[in-house]
Amino acid sequence: MTEDERSAGWAAYYDKLRDRPPRRTLLAALDNFGTTPAGALALDLGCGDGRDAVEMLRRGWRVIAVDAEPEALRQLQARPLPPESDVTAVVARLEEVPIPLGVQLINSSFAMPLCEPQAFHDLWGRIREGLPPGGRFSGQWYGPRDSWVGRPGITFLSRENALSMLEGFDLEMFEEEEADGVTPRGTAKHWHIFHIVARKP
Ligand SMILES: C[S@@+](CC[C@H](N)C(=O)[O-])C[C@H]1O[C@@H](n2cnc3c(N)ncnc32)[C@H](O)[C@@H]1O
Repeated sequence: MTEDERSAGWAAYYDKLRDRPPRRTLLAALDNFGTTPAGALALDLGCGDGRDAVEMLRRGWRVIAVDAEPEALRQLQARPLPPESDVTAVVARLEEVPIPLGVQLINSSFAMPLCEPQAFHDLWGRIREGLPPGGRFSGQWYGPRDSWVGRPGITFLSRENALSMLEGFDLEMFEEEEADGVTPRGTAKHWHIFHIVARKP
């Protein structure tokens, strides 16, 4: 697949999912903070067109929204954002993105596994280290029975591996989902997903 084809694919994905509500992993993480912490700063990795970022902004979080696709960030910024929204849009790849100081919530909905295993593990290492005590990670990882297994550039983890990576965190949500379905682009797919909300003690 060329870069142009990949970008066109993501643009079609944003069109298809426009106006969908925030992911429930993000909502659980936000709810678990209780009232929004002072100066709250969140990082949204693979933010897409901003379905989660908008909810964080609505609840008073400052958001650094990261995506490899400039079109994602353009669409996020074109949304009707809450007044006084503080959002920084960063075009970057997950493989390289640094974790900014002071981030309390790192969200990556259906995006973090979209890199090779080494990069995925390096990124998780940066997230683990970068979160302060009380900080949270929310998002999805992919399991080994997902029908995308074998595609290059995607990481899949067994349940045991996923749980061992999360060791030392308080698991506020760890739900395994397996279901036959259809992707937003209309192809049949077997999903094997871990839905995660984890708090660094
Ligand atoms: C499945 S979409 C999810 C978007 C959004 N988080 C949501 O929940 O709807 C994945 C997003 O991650 C971005 N992405 C995929 N691989 C990436 C990478 N290696 N680095 C940065 N962004 C990436 C894509 O451009 C896309 O916007």
